[in-house]
Amino acid sequence: MNSKLPRVMIPETKIKQRIAELGSEISADYKGKDVIAICVLKGSYMFFADLIRKVDLPIHCEFISVSSYGNKTTSSGEVKITLDTTEPLSGKHVIIVEDIVDSGLTVQYLLNHFKARKPASLKICSLLFKPDALKNDVSLDYIGFKIANEFVVGYGLDYMGRYRQVPYIGVLDNEV
Ligand code: IMP
Repeated sequence: MNSKLPRVMIPETKIKQRIAELGSEISADYKGKDVIAICVLKGSYMFFADLIRKVDLPIHCEFISVSSYGNKTTSSGEVKITLDTTEPLSGKHVIIVEDIVDSGLTVQYLLNHFKARKPASLKICSLLFKPDALKNDVSLDYIGFKIANEFVVGYGLDYMGRYRQVPYIGVLDNEV
């Protein structure tokens, strides 16, 4: 990895603590129900793995991979699905697990994509949310942290494919 580590924005301990809280909230909200949790690759793989271990419910794990066209740090909203879920979602309680909601265009696209499969319920859980960057009126059901409009890396999030293994959320002060 690059020897220069990103500046810490959210330390590992705070992430762990918040994920435990989200896990309890989801466990209470969906008590008695089977849940399908959808990991949006690649960025949310670390969050997803930690979150589902804090959810005390029968849970099915599904994966979708999306790439959004744009420059290195902003999404154009043109989303392409490169790997889709395989489990039928009709009549199921579905939670989309995202790493970050920035412009909100990706999550809006995913909501429309999954609504068409007629789930019993469809919610969004995102580790990070940049309210100042939002370009639509999408509403999030579970939010880990609201953050300022800065480009962040670590804990699964990358900059040009790097920094995903950094265990905290950090900012690249000079690189981006
Ligand atoms: P959107 O602008 O909400 O559509 O964000 C789409 C995707 O862009 C997210 O799922 C991330 O993969 C990526 N992204 C947005 N903001 C950041 C950031 O600050 N760091 C790393 N990736 C980001």
